[in-house]
Amino acid sequence: MKPEDFGSWSRQALAEVEQALSTWVPAEAPAGLGDAMRYGVLDGGKRLRPLLVLAACDALAGHREAAMRAAVAVELIHAYSLIHDDMPCMDNDVLRRGKPTVHVKFGEAPAMLAGDAMQALAFEVLTPDESLVPLALQARLVGLLARAAGQSGMAGGQAIDLAATGQPMQESALQDMHRRKTGALLQASVLMGAACGSPDARAWQALGNYGAAIGLAFQVVDDILDVTQASEILGKTAGKDLDANKPTYVSVLGLDAARRRADELHAQAQAALRDSALADTVALAMLADKVVDRDS
Ligand code: IPE
Ligand code: IPE
Ligand code: MG
Ligand code: MG
Ligand code: MG
Repeated sequence: MKPEDFGSWSRQALAEVEQALSTWVPAEAPAGLGDAMRYGVLDGGKRLRPLLVLAACDALAGHREAAMRAAVAVELIHAYSLIHDDMPCMDNDVLRRGKPTVHVKFGEAPAMLAGDAMQALAFEVLTPDESLVPLALQARLVGLLARAAGQSGMAGGQAIDLAATGQPMQESALQDMHRRKTGALLQASVLMGAACGSPDARAWQALGNYGAAIGLAFQVVDDILDVTQASEILGKTAGKDLDANKPTYVSVLGLDAARRRADELHAQAQAALRDSALADTVALAMLADKVVDRDS
């Protein structure tokens, strides 16, 4: 792919992801549960994780049906994590993706259940009939996603985040928290896409390093945007981290050092792509640019 083709590649990929999400997230779940699920995941979000899955798959000319399912699955886990992250017992946020949060719109119990059901649906989407995706690949994708979402990844990171609120934190502990709560799912997106192809050991390692670098960079930039950006642009309430006394890259390192850290991680991600020796990493490179150079 040439850099100038990235725009049309991503528009096409985004359209396919929206269509797949809309098809796979059912409206007809009992007692309005489907409405809360669809509200939480459709019509919003940058869809960065799905784009990473598809870009990594395309870099390896991998199994597209499997990758589209992985793209939907990781977005479902991500959207569920946001629904729960916004609940009063966690960050207590009322605005997400430019709309009232799921618990504000539907109530707390429906929000909790929508998240629960979306987590299960993610794994349902990854395990279709074997005529569609080979069983060994299904198992691989399930393993990668489960490990990134669970206690050693996102959920574990969120637990640290809540326990650390109001506490002083060393940079090393902050990095560990961010790698888990946000980095793990972004890295898993890249690796799930890669697993849909046949990467050699070198490419697999390099893509893992790329995913780790952009995964951490993404949360560093999220911390920066919380203090530099307006709520209307973010689609979520700005200034929440300071209000809630959260340890962030900005509160621990200061804004300038946080920006430098994001740039360093961006450079690491680009170096990892060169190390991969893959022929076409243009989309992955441009997604890394977007991670650090974005306004929402
Ligand atoms: C927000 O993620 C939560 C974090 C992990 C920092 P995104 O910034 O990817 O949110 P959406 O999906 O675009 O709404
Ligand atoms: C969220 O981190 C990470 C998740 C796993 C959802 P934040 O709490 O900083 O995300 P925002 O800023 O509310 O999107
Ligand atoms: Mg949070
Ligand atoms: Mg939050
Ligand atoms: Mg944040």
